Amino acid sequence: SKPQPVVAANWKCNGTVAALTELLAVFNDAKVDHDVQCVVAPAFVHFGLVQAQLKNTKFAISAQNCIAKSGAFTGEVSIALLKDLGLKWVILGHSERRQYYGETNDVVASKVHACVGAGLIVIACIGETLKEREDGRTAAVVIGQLAAIAKTIRVNDWEQVVVAYEPVWAIGTGKVATPEQAQEVHHIIRQWMASNVGAEVASKLRILYGGSVTAANADTLYRCADINGFLVGGASLKPEFTKIIAATK
Ligand code: G3H
Repeated sequence: SKPQPVVAANWKCNGTVAALTELLAVFNDAKVDHDVQCVVAPAFVHFGLVQAQLKNTKFAISAQNCIAKSGAFTGEVSIALLKDLGLKWVILGHSERRQYYGETNDVVASKVHACVGAGLIVIACIGETLKEREDGRTAAVVIGQLAAIAKTIRVNDWEQVVVAYEPVWAIGTGKVATPEQAQEVHHIIRQWMASNVGAEVASKLRILYGGSVTAANADTLYRCADINGFLVGGASLKPEFTKIIAATK
């Protein structure tokens, strides 16, 4: 049987107070009657709004990124600041962080290390670019990203980690991975975890798929043996996000 699914809304750098207020009302009204962890990751400036308006107890609030230490780091948000707000979740290593802000495997791994050490739950993102896939390097790239993380944390820390596999070519493109393409990589990830971290950790690990997930494709994707939920961008800004949650029933 599958572990408890996770369905996460990554709002990225989007939203207005008015639009998000409407959307949160839809999330609050969603009838979620199965065991699932829902997550919403707003921009930092919207944390107060979401904390005030999100009432659905199936949901947790997540950051989209953070840094390890507080102090003289203008424009940044640290683990301590998140914890002070009562937040428990953080997305790390999103491909947009890697691509636009120079976050290498080592930077991501050290953030994961710091966050799990501080008791946060991390959604650690990995995934190959189109070029890497075309060069036949998908497995090597994804395992390289995963191994960098595994090197910095202890076996028990994996209880606080959810992995999100997001092929970069599928993010925001409308070009979703086929269930076969996604399952193939999810299986590689779980097998690598079983061989290199431990069989029990591997079987309990939630591996989310991300990249052009919609209400129309979520059901079929979730039927894949190694898909344990979704990290959703575009569709998470619409009422259809609640249908993606329902797809994990
Ligand atoms: O974090 C979410 C992913 O980047 C997917 O974004 O659903 O808009 O393709 P998308």
